[in-house]
Amino acid sequence: MLNKEMILSIETSCDETSIAVLKNGKELLANVVSSQINKHKEFGGVMPELASRLHLENIMYCIDAALKEANIDYKDITLIVYTKGPGLIGALHVGIQAAKAISVAHNIPLLGVDHMKGHIYSSRYISDFKFPLLTLVVSGGHSELVLMESEYKFKLLGETKDDAVGECYDKVARVLGLEYPGGPIIDKLAHEGENKYNLPYPKVEGKYDFSFSGLKTAVLNLVNNMKQKGEEFKSEDVATSFQKRVVEILTDKVILALDEYKVNQVLLAGGVSANKELRETIVNRVKEKDSNIEVVLPPLWCCTDNAAMTAMAGFYSDEEESSIDDGVNPSLELND
Ligand code: KG4
Ligand code: ZN
Repeated sequence: MLNKEMILSIETSCDETSIAVLKNGKELLANVVSSQINKHKEFGGVMPELASRLHLENIMYCIDAALKEANIDYKDITLIVYTKGPGLIGALHVGIQAAKAISVAHNIPLLGVDHMKGHIYSSRYISDFKFPLLTLVVSGGHSELVLMESEYKFKLLGETKDDAVGECYDKVARVLGLEYPGGPIIDKLAHEGENKYNLPYPKVEGKYDFSFSGLKTAVLNLVNNMKQKGEEFKSEDVATSFQKRVVEILTDKVILALDEYKVNQVLLAGGVSANKELRETIVNRVKEKDSNIEVVLPPLWCCTDNAAMTAMAGFYSDEEESSIDDGVNPSLELND
């Protein structure tokens, strides 16, 4: 049995270097997040090589800062949790190597955690889980509908067959000349425009699968055509129409799954779960469907990548100690 009294958690899957300290699965003593977003902005997206280099430059500062904030020493740590995937290979490597170095130097066991399970467990900071529950995981790299029948057991009901939702937000933002990451900017603009454009509703074979590439292409074509013809348009109206459709597609699948699966809770997870309209719509539609189902929204500070969520998943993980020989898996699947 792993001693999970004091977890040091290391998250470096994409463009945030984050270190957290979690005591007894309850007290978050530190959650240091060093975001690289400003450095990647000038390239319009995350540059993997730059991400690895910045993780390397920052990780020791973040570890020192987290230990200081938590007011603990290496000797107090009982378990080191690191993100084993999915994510950018070079970025993940920086995290696992830091974890291994501390493990060897201070004789502390290691536990690799799935980043997506981390996103799901971010809601554990504000609510207990009442199984069975359904969770919609929407991030820059993933869009998944997951059923949890008991603690740390995940059943993938459906996933995107092409682009992830966050990725579409970022591409739509780019064609509108907005900065990376596009999600928060589109979210804000969408509340200022009109639902003027009739965008396609994608067809997918799997009952609970998603598809977003057709919608993304439709928005890119719409904007490029208007630009070519010199037509005036408002980015706000494009953002509103796009976001309305995205939220409709996502919440439709959740409501559909509620017909088949009797659950006590519906959870949102992942970077896109910070989306205001998605949060409001899911609450309203689930309430309309069955007022006994509780909707749990992760706190905003825990929606985008951070080590606190990975620490929480590590606390509830039923996996055995990771070996010093283990590597990372950039394409780790929920059922691996
Ligand atoms: O989970 P996350 O931090 O990183 C990955 O694991 O991918 O998610 C980042 C994604 C980006 O695509 C970003 O544009 C999107 O989440 N995002 C949002 C919002 N805030 C972040 N998308 C829509 N609305 C938001 N408010
Ligand atoms: Zn993430």
